[in-house]
Amino acid sequence: MKISRLVAIAGAVAGLAAFGSTAYADAAAGKATFEKVCAECHEAGDFDGEDPQELATTVKGIVGGTVKHKKALKLTDQEISDVAAFMAAGGK
Ligand code: HEC
Repeated sequence: MKISRLVAIAGAVAGLAAFGSTAYADAAAGKATFEKVCAECHEAGDFDGEDPQELATTVKGIVGGTVKHKKALKLTDQEISDVAAFMAAGGK
């Protein structure tokens, strides 16, 4: 038997799935964090119209212990930007 043609297709290289981009704030993920961690004491509507960047800085301060807050918070940087985006949009 003779293989007359060898077709070497090295295709099917999976496209790079661009997940895990940490610079992008995801308000939907922030909603989940807010409802799980913050909603016990806060209404997202109270933060409506605030600057998401400033809010993230404040929350980062809370997590880092430099901003006084009723409860110590433990969030990743991604969770902080997500939750800040959600809150600054007033939970919409
Ligand atoms: C156990 C209750 C409680 C929980 C849980 C809680 N907070 Fe607070 N937070 C407070 C209180 C009380 C204040 C001060 C009064 C106010 O601004 O509502 C406050 C204030 C804040 C402020 C304003 C701080 C400032 O100095 O401007 C931010 C921002 C904030 N909280 C974010 C969060 C986020 C984000 C979460 C969830 C990840 C959270 N909080 C969870 C009780 C809580």
